[in-house]
Amino acid sequence: MKTLLYMGITINGYIAKADGDSQFTSEEDLKSFFDHSKNAGNIIMGKNTFIEASKQGYFPFPEALNVVLTHEKLDNKWGRNVLFTDKSPKDVLAFLKEKGFDTAFIAGGGKVNSSFIKEKLIDEIYIDVEPVVFGRGIPIFAESDFEFELKLLETKKLNENTIQLHYQVIK
Ligand SMILES: NC(=O)c1ccc[n+]([C@@H]2O[C@H](COP(=O)([O-])OP(=O)(O)OC[C@H]3O[C@@H](n4cnc5c(N)ncnc54)[C@H](OP(=O)(O)O)[C@@H]3O)[C@@H](O)[C@H]2O)c1
Repeated sequence: MKTLLYMGITINGYIAKADGDSQFTSEEDLKSFFDHSKNAGNIIMGKNTFIEASKQGYFPFPEALNVVLTHEKLDNKWGRNVLFTDKSPKDVLAFLKEKGFDTAFIAGGGKVNSSFIKEKLIDEIYIDVEPVVFGRGIPIFAESDFEFELKLLETKKLNENTIQLHYQVIK
């Protein structure tokens, strides 16, 4: 089972403004994000990302099992392609493996990203660096105790101003 993390970031490492707005990413970032989630067939996100994606009209993400991590009992009005769960990161991956998925797609936000990487559960990271900087926001990884080196697998220019970095996490 391979686990991918995919994020669009500002040049100073934020994935959203302090109020949760993440609409600074490019069309090309969004397209590539959707392509990767469709290929994986699943998308794992935290409650705050679910709330923000719902506000922006992206939820549920198409052609993928949407797994939302939350301790709250939320109403599922979407049916079988949406799952609200309080499983641990490890148990979510075991669940997806059991369902027959060979790739797990992690879509943030910062808290979820940290909870997976600190348990060594992320294999590859895609980062689309957008030509934006703002002084306050939500960082790609919430503060936590971990440290990894990465191997650069590929770089791609997504448009005139956006670079995609693809890394392997050395474990
Ligand atoms: N630029 C991008 O590519 C991108 C991508 C994704 C998200 N974002 C942005 O990231 C922001 C959200 O990031 P965030 O760090 O604030 O929050 P988050 O990681 O999306 O969600 C965190 C919340 O999810 C729940 N949760 C996480 N792990 C859990 C587990 N194992 N079991 C049960 N519940 C769990 C907890 O909520 P409860 O305990 O309260 O249920 C936790 O407070 C949004 O503003 C979004 O727009 C940006």
